Amino acid sequence: MSRLFVVQTGDPVLRQKCTEVKSFNEKLWKLLDDMKETVRAENGAGLAAPQIGLSERVVVIDVEEGFFEMVNPVILFSKGEQTGPEGCLSVKGKQGTVTRPDKVKAEYRDRYGKKHKLTAVGFFARAVCHELDHLDGVLYTDKATELYDVEADD
Ligand code: CO
Repeated sequence: MSRLFVVQTGDPVLRQKCTEVKSFNEKLWKLLDDMKETVRAENGAGLAAPQIGLSERVVVIDVEEGFFEMVNPVILFSKGEQTGPEGCLSVKGKQGTVTRPDKVKAEYRDRYGKKHKLTAVGFFARAVCHELDHLDGVLYTDKATELYDVEADD
């Protein structure tokens, strides 16, 4: 596995709509392994492929509930509302206040192309929404009601 460079806001790749993954092959597995190493090294809750410069519908999420690899993910429904702090590995040194659904149900494929569904609540739901937004070129800063400086942790 290798740790990948995380691109920062201002890079046009973060604003592109990502394309669907068609091949569930070794190249995808390596990408997922590298994204896992990167999100752990950066102490993130999630990472989307555009953040490492690849415009494909792939995210990893690393939360209390577990580590999830989501390929071609789609939110099936969302419910409720939560408002809280959010940050992004591509927006270093900032946090913002963002309102998100409190519960989401999502469908996605695993690294072998098999379909799965998950239900996420609370912070997990926030992470799913944040990462899936990346796949459509949306950053949390577009939705934040306030943005403030925080100490970068690297
Ligand atoms: Co992010």
